[in-house]
Amino acid sequence: MFKIALVPGDGIGPDIIKQAVKVLKAIERPGEIEFEFTEVLAGGTAIDKTGHPLPKESLDICLASDAVLLGAVGGPKWDNLPGDIRPEQALLGLRKGLGVFANLRPAVLFPQLKKASPLKEEIIGEGIDVLVVRELIGGIYFGQRGRDGDRAYDTECYSVPEVERIARVAFDTARKRRRKVTSVDKANILESSRLWRETITHVAEQYPDVELNHMYVDNCAMQLIRNPHQFDVIVTSNMFGDILSDEASMLVGSLGMLPSASLGDTKRGFYEPIHGSAPDIAGQDKANPLATILSVAMMLRYSFDLTHQADMIERAVAQVLEDGYRTADIMENDMKLVGTDKMGDLVVEYLNRI
Ligand code: NAD
Ligand code: IPM
Ligand code: MN
Repeated sequence: MFKIALVPGDGIGPDIIKQAVKVLKAIERPGEIEFEFTEVLAGGTAIDKTGHPLPKESLDICLASDAVLLGAVGGPKWDNLPGDIRPEQALLGLRKGLGVFANLRPAVLFPQLKKASPLKEEIIGEGIDVLVVRELIGGIYFGQRGRDGDRAYDTECYSVPEVERIARVAFDTARKRRRKVTSVDKANILESSRLWRETITHVAEQYPDVELNHMYVDNCAMQLIRNPHQFDVIVTSNMFGDILSDEASMLVGSLGMLPSASLGDTKRGFYEPIHGSAPDIAGQDKANPLATILSVAMMLRYSFDLTHQADMIERAVAQVLEDGYRTADIMENDMKLVGTDKMGDLVVEYLNRI
């Protein structure tokens, strides 16, 4: 029995989590693979109900689970609250509380979505497969911040052990892929980036079979569009990883296609699509649930060792796309437009056929 904490959150969060649960239920086999779901309050809805974005009980349930699946948090309703009681604090509190320092964000182009990518066909070539490894519980997100009269500040701080552990994740993962790591920083300006670069270079000595190069973040933002094939694994800080992964998601068609897995020192993982609560389409049955469904596949693979079932979900998604079903964000001429709920049903239908 695998215990899964579900954090639907705000905006499109509850709708996409509903689709992910359908998929997990389709994977269940009585006596063999069973899931126990516990719904957890976090984000704006938690502020409304309890006055706090992440009630202690919510974090405790997540800590006692084998995996956590989050939809999204935040929205205009809570945008003017003070920083420490904004919905987004729930996300930071969960990531930090669970100790998940390594955020894996794979940008893989399903061949069926070549036309949804804004890149020219000749740039896409055989396809795109870039993995962003984002440091998740350090850097400017967790540095000192504050206000001093008419000034405000946020500080970025990284220690050698923090960089070493994310570097090891990047190099270990690269070994299972195309053996290339690009470390992205702003070492021409930031002292924290200079420490980052030195530390990555040092860790690389233990991985002579993996090629390492360093790149400034502004150049990387451009190179991703000019020639994404030069990248295999990108390892970078919390803030740069946030920005570059949204950019990478568009290369493969849509922000609604990018899943993520956040891992620490244990098998317990934190899984979420990389997008937010999409207030502009919330409650309209328009959101693409595939990023969340693909995050479920990552959960099965990384936290539960259910590799075959993870592959099945990815194959079912590919088949749904192959048969021309599209949510609005990836819609093209001659394809069949479906809503969030129908897309979830289709993935389940194809899963049942495999
Ligand atoms: P967003 O990711 O919510 O939306 C950006 C754009 O992408 C919007 O046009 C939206 O409609 C679209 N989009 C996002 N997900 C989609 C999906 N699954 N299917 C189709 N279209 C999708 O980013 P934003 O608008 O900058 O932020 C909105 C709120 O979400 C903010 O409160 C922000 O803090 C929060 N946020 C939360 C998370 C999270 O919970 N992990 C991540 C990012 C942003
Ligand atoms: C993400 C989001 C979050 C982040 C916000 C909502 C705190 O943008 O998961 O990418 O910046 O990490
Ligand atoms: Mn983001």
